[in-house]
Amino acid sequence: MGRRTTNMLVEVALFATMIFMSPAISEANLFVFGDSLYDSGMSLYSGVEGVGAAYFPYGLRHYLDQPAGRYSDGFIIPDFLARRVGLPLLQPFLAPGIKNYSQGINFASARACVPVENCFEAMNWKAQLGYFVEMVQDLKQQVGKIEAKRLLSKAGYLFNIGEDDYVNHIRNLPHLFQQDSYIKQRLGNLTILIKTIYKEGGRKFAFQNIGPLGCMPSIKYALGYNGTCAPEAQELAKLHNAAFAALAKRLETTLPGFKYSLFDFYTTLYKHILHGDAYGTYVTFPLFDLIYFIA
Ligand SMILES: *[C@@H]1O[C@H](CO)[C@@H](O)[C@H](O)[C@H]1NC(C)=O
Ligand SMILES: *[C@@H]1O[C@H](CO)[C@@H](O)[C@H](O)[C@H]1NC(C)=O
Ligand SMILES: *[C@@H]1O[C@H](CO)[C@@H](O)[C@H](O)[C@H]1NC(C)=O
Repeated sequence: MGRRTTNMLVEVALFATMIFMSPAISEANLFVFGDSLYDSGMSLYSGVEGVGAAYFPYGLRHYLDQPAGRYSDGFIIPDFLARRVGLPLLQPFLAPGIKNYSQGINFASARACVPVENCFEAMNWKAQLGYFVEMVQDLKQQVGKIEAKRLLSKAGYLFNIGEDDYVNHIRNLPHLFQQDSYIKQRLGNLTILIKTIYKEGGRKFAFQNIGPLGCMPSIKYALGYNGTCAPEAQELAKLHNAAFAALAKRLETTLPGFKYSLFDFYTTLYKHILHGDAYGTYVTFPLFDLIYFIA
């Protein structure tokens, strides 16, 4: 295991510890909201054509040695967190069969975004919120109202949502960002999501901020940028992240008992992009026309 994995694990472990500060870890449960970075297979069952990581090279290492609905060669962050606190890997909410929600569930789905009109075909925040509300009803039936309330208020709520909005926005309007109102709408919608969970008893929240958008090849292409990371897209990500950090602080001061931790995904990933060679090595699979980064 190289430095990249080690560093990531340390950061993820810290993040986990913050969500589950109390009570005892043996009691942990976790509900996950987000997009492809956190998708543990929802998009395999969402009925949306063309999404769902059910094919090679997904799942190449670390996880069952086969594609498992994750947009990753192995574990995703919710998997590391679940393992860290002794939980089984969280099932996607839409997976068939009866599910036991006592230990949590995963609502995250690839291509999720915030404004519903821009991602009608995918599992946007409103759809994920709808599933959460449905799940709360089922949980009450499974364990009774009082126990459900207890489970919901000690649970960790993990979020990564919003990044795809900016990616689409920049691709569609590369020279017309309209930043302020755009960010405001997203934060307004996310506030509804967070407050609804809070009303159901949720108190411990963990957020991941959005990554260094300007370094994505598709963004650089849209902006006609040849360098490592396009500055205007980086700026947009930073503006969102700063506004989100301020929102989280505000929620903490206005909602009694609300606690949160914020994982600085932007900085972590940016470091890995700038200094990739320090974190791993490249391996080529010519047969599959694939270059693979081993940490
Ligand atoms: C659900 O999971 C919890 C925690 O592992 C366990 O205590 C409980 O018995 C399970 N309930 C059912 C119906 O399997
Ligand atoms: C939520 O987003 C929509 C756009 O999809 C926007 O019109 C609305 O004002 C937002 N809600 C809040 C509370 O900001
Ligand atoms: C980007 O690189 C290509 C190929 O080297 C070059 O033709 C193009 O002019 C460059 N564009 C910019 C904006 O520098």
